[in-house]
Amino acid sequence: SKRPRVFSGIQPTSGSFQLGNYLGALRNWIALQDTHDAFYCVVDLHSITIPKEPEELRENTRNAAAQLLALGIDPERSTLFVQSHVPEHTRLSWVLECLTGYGEAARMTQFKDKAARQEDEHVSVGLFTYPALMAADILLYGTDLVPVGEDQRQHLELSRNLAQRFNSRFGRTFVVPEAHIPTDTARIFDLQDPTAKMSKSLPSGVVEFMDDPKRAAKKIRSAVTDNERDIRYDPENKPGVSNLLVIYSGMTGRSVSELEAAYEGSGYGDLKKDLGAVLSDFLTPFQSRVRQYLDDPAELDKVLRRGAERARAVAAETVRTAYDRVGF
Ligand code: ADP
Ligand code: NA
Repeated sequence: SKRPRVFSGIQPTSGSFQLGNYLGALRNWIALQDTHDAFYCVVDLHSITIPKEPEELRENTRNAAAQLLALGIDPERSTLFVQSHVPEHTRLSWVLECLTGYGEAARMTQFKDKAARQEDEHVSVGLFTYPALMAADILLYGTDLVPVGEDQRQHLELSRNLAQRFNSRFGRTFVVPEAHIPTDTARIFDLQDPTAKMSKSLPSGVVEFMDDPKRAAKKIRSAVTDNERDIRYDPENKPGVSNLLVIYSGMTGRSVSELEAAYEGSGYGDLKKDLGAVLSDFLTPFQSRVRQYLDDPAELDKVLRRGAERARAVAAETVRTAYDRVGF
């Protein structure tokens, strides 16, 4: 097909995606299927950069695939697969690791953040080289566009640099990918600490997509705000309220200024109650679709097997060319 190629990946970290994943990235994954030839990957190899229990990892990988299908990734139109099913990812990543400078990798802020949260002896070499594997994920598919949240911008820049470096050293081989980062919802903040990004590693302020919808609404109601009372978008001085407005806008398509006007004269309680209802109305049917996919493991396996075959056909060709150019 002549459509531009899109690729993105998500870790099967905790058995549930969170609201930041959706508004920062997954919402665009779904939309781009209409205009692009999409490859979407559950990146289980990335998951073990931090220790994981095997059974939990296996289950979380299936949960992640079921959630992507339930959100609207259409396996007829798009290629949905699991990273470890396609060995070309690690084959290319070795070559890219050898093109990555040690200092260059050491500057990655996500490595520094994640390493800071681990005991020294638990900081793996894999956590350090993760961005080279991510570059391999992207470059294998001749990717034009990578839909991700703002926190991935630096890794995307490294992928671009590695593509250019390989091309200038060995001859034009890789497409240099562009990041596709939303302008309005690129960074969703933690509900309890609206200066930190929403993440599964801060469980109290994250809305997980497999949370009981009532619990999700309750998390919104107890979000940290401030002690004024006007509902106004002002991320500097009112980070909590601004975050709620951005989430509300992302979930409904109503603009932030439209919401400010609609809530003029109302209190934070009204805003939180309504946003809680918006989320719970979204999560209830979503979760029942997830359960349908998980209740039919044979069908889910079939979808993922077909996805891996399609991905592998493209990836194997890329590795053949790249290995030949390198001198293997
Ligand atoms: P997490 O950060 O929860 O472990 P991943 O690292 O697997 O999730 O990220 C998957 C995608 O979700 C990436 O594209 C990332 O940029 C995006 N993302 C994660 N957290 C947020 C957030 N708080 N706001 C916006 N996008 C996010
Ligand atoms: Na992340």
